[in-house]
Amino acid sequence: MKPNTHYANLKDSYLFFNIAQKTKAYLEAHPDQRLLRMGIGDVSLPLSDVVIQALHEAVEDQGKKDTFHGYMPECGDPALRTAIAAYYKKRGVILEDDEVFVSSGASDELGDILDLFDRENTALVIEPAYPAYVDASLIAGRKVIHLPAGKENGFLPEPSDDLAGDIIYLCSPNNPTGAVYSHGQLKAWVDYANRHDSVILFDAAYEAFIGDENLPHSIFEIEGAKKCAIEICSLSKTAGFTGTRMGYTVVPKDLVREGMSLNAMWVRNRTTKTNGVSYIIQKGGAAIFTDRGQDQIRENIKVYKNNAKMLMEALDRLGIWYCGGKNSPYIWMECPNRMDSWSFFDYLLKEIQVVGTPGEGFGACGEGYFRFSTFGSPEDTREAAKRLVDLLG
Ligand code: MLT
Repeated sequence: MKPNTHYANLKDSYLFFNIAQKTKAYLEAHPDQRLLRMGIGDVSLPLSDVVIQALHEAVEDQGKKDTFHGYMPECGDPALRTAIAAYYKKRGVILEDDEVFVSSGASDELGDILDLFDRENTALVIEPAYPAYVDASLIAGRKVIHLPAGKENGFLPEPSDDLAGDIIYLCSPNNPTGAVYSHGQLKAWVDYANRHDSVILFDAAYEAFIGDENLPHSIFEIEGAKKCAIEICSLSKTAGFTGTRMGYTVVPKDLVREGMSLNAMWVRNRTTKTNGVSYIIQKGGAAIFTDRGQDQIRENIKVYKNNAKMLMEALDRLGIWYCGGKNSPYIWMECPNRMDSWSFFDYLLKEIQVVGTPGEGFGACGEGYFRFSTFGSPEDTREAAKRLVDLLG
């Protein structure tokens, strides 16, 4: 047996695992300290009432002969696929129900979807980037091309025809920078992908944080995208499902390469490799797409947006450059005094017990930057903002 030797191309351990290890070691050495966690984007608010009620009802259903469900349809409960398609329709995106696939979350899906592509394809990753894009591509044995983004292009680089990406990862609102593509900027990527026969994997996990009416939530708001894009979405941040696990993926029927329909291939893949998302979780997820569900998740998102405001005010007072925070739950700041990002991580942990994420963990061009997640509690965020001002002011 020969193992998958591509694992040798990965960094020793995953970014968020590293951070967890470092903070664990710090806490073991300082058991009396309370950490203010603004590292991984994990939510702190509980699930909305409407979701909890639906989950309870679904559990009850599973205990009665008449309402019990065994295997679910692999690609998702038809009623939920309809509800998700209706959610897109509100923004003018018309999808057929069977272009929507219910998933167990975006991170699983970002890896699994690579099954649709030949190994010879290159993956183009705009960095800084969510590290799973690179890792999943490397595990699958693909060559990764890194396109660096920076302050000069607002962390939103546009394509140029000399790039050679077959599979293109785009994330907007971006993790980690919080930058959001405009319609025009996304159109440039869609046109590029259609010209080069590439496929865009559009990570829309943070779309619900867009407040600016003029910004696109979905790549399918862009003309031509159905011929070149797959969109991967998550309820983790939108509705607090990080521990509950559910998301959805849109694979349009117009997406065809070498005569093969990627939608039909994904049906084949899911029906082979999964037995669907559990009935109970899909019931909980469906509640989010009701009017009450939408109102309740908006209330939670408001709390996180307010956290972002507290951190942005602190950085404004300190005169530190940052982006994100406005249409995104992440704030991407420049480390003060030209500190490197892991040194800044250690400094904040040691001096004020605030945990963030070093920019270098998102790729080499993230060096010198630092990310704050705004998913903590308002109390912790207020305290962290105060400690930042006291330390760096
Ligand atoms: C992050 O902090 O970048 C995300 O929470 C990680 C994830 O979604 O897996």
